[in-house]
Amino acid sequence: MKLYRELAEVYHEMYQHLFDYEQEFAFYRDALDRFAAKKLIEFGCGTGNLARFFLHNQYAYLGIDLSENMLNIARREQPQGRFQQGDLSSFSISETFDAALVTGRTLTYLHQTEALLGAFEGIHACLTPGGVLVFDAIDAAAMFLDFDASQKQLDTGPYRRISHSRPTLNGAWTWHWEADYFVKKGETYVFLDHDEAELRAFTPDELALLLKMRGFELLEMVKKDTYTWPDHYFVAQKSLV
Ligand SMILES: C[S@@+](CC[C@H](N)C(=O)[O-])C[C@H]1O[C@@H](n2cnc3c(N)ncnc32)[C@H](O)[C@@H]1O
Repeated sequence: MKLYRELAEVYHEMYQHLFDYEQEFAFYRDALDRFAAKKLIEFGCGTGNLARFFLHNQYAYLGIDLSENMLNIARREQPQGRFQQGDLSSFSISETFDAALVTGRTLTYLHQTEALLGAFEGIHACLTPGGVLVFDAIDAAAMFLDFDASQKQLDTGPYRRISHSRPTLNGAWTWHWEADYFVKKGETYVFLDHDEAELRAFTPDELALLLKMRGFELLEMVKKDTYTWPDHYFVAQKSLV
């Protein structure tokens, strides 16, 4: 997606206003505390918006993202952080962690079930026994029972985004998303770029099943307040043996 490549700086500026990173960190910290997890790996770390909090709170932290452009901003903003390029759907590392986080609805981009199972398998392999997996994902019921295909305009800082979604239902709870980005110059908005992607939402049941297939038990689902699409946090655990 261009938002995470050519438009990475636009993402970094826009999403400061869209996600409440302090509130998100509070949720992740509570979950990590319950499992006494101090060493963690974050997938889809993007420009390091959450890394900032983990690093300032003495977690041993590694951030993974597909996009070098996003990672370069993370490295610039959090010079003390460890950041590495990697694809969540086929990830492997020789190190182990107490906890894995998949943040900012990064699972939304794994619209093929095979890629999602690959992700859960890779995460399982890099967790210690009893390790915890915490992620957020868009709720299929809330998304599809009353699909909102209207055009959305979002103005944050100097940027404007006009976006539109339409259901595709390609063997899963998928939709196609398109957006045009503009930047304010004087009194007018000048076109920057066009972006599009296939995205996926989930039902709790399908997540529980896919997690179980790769050795996790889904323990908890917590509703999350966000600016647009309805989503939940999920907490899962790798078995102790
Ligand atoms: C919405 S951003 C979230 C970034 C950050 N967690 C935040 O909350 O600001 C989603 C991130 O997932 C990354 N991403 C998408 N697909 C990925 C994959 N297969 N493996 C690793 N990262 C991926 C993108 O590059 C992007 O940085």
